[in-house]
Amino acid sequence: MQTLLKTLDFNPQLVRRAAICGYEGEMNVVMHGGDGSLSFAINNDELILEISDDGPGIVDIEKAMQAGFSTASDEHREMGFGAGMGLPNMKKNADDIIVESEKSQGTRVRMVFFIDKGDGAG
Ligand SMILES: Nc1ncnc2c1ncn2[C@@H]1O[C@H](COP(=O)(O)OP(=O)(O)OP(=O)(O)O)[C@@H](O)[C@H]1O
Ligand SMILES: [Mg+2]
Repeated sequence: MQTLLKTLDFNPQLVRRAAICGYEGEMNVVMHGGDGSLSFAINNDELILEISDDGPGIVDIEKAMQAGFSTASDEHREMGFGAGMGLPNMKKNADDIIVESEKSQGTRVRMVFFIDKGDGAG
């Protein structure tokens, strides 16, 4: 994803923000979700990154968005994950974030990056 965005000549700051969000989102799918997919779309003034999975879903989205909240297992914590900072980090780095989740159905996180926000396409 980073390589493609760089090829498309996006500003490095935007590529960096999108890459952080992509990484955190993918880690969440691997640790908490199920089978997942990542896609992104680009229009004139925004980059939209969408990460979905068909896992157990997020019980309380508001809580999950809070810094420090985590249901990570001991095994994940031993590997250095589980600080409960992934979703807050995604919120911080995206211009807009929409988290949708349905119990036993899965989770979809959609993040929007404004291309013209001072760090737009080169
Ligand atoms: N795709 C998902 N499916 C189910 N639950 C999720 C998903 N993504 C996040 N969660 C829930 O939201 C909580 C908070 O996520 P967040 O990314 O902020 O922290 P974390 O993954 O636990 O730790 P960190 O990202 O700091 O390593 C998770 O612990 C988990 O309970
Ligand atoms: Mg996480």
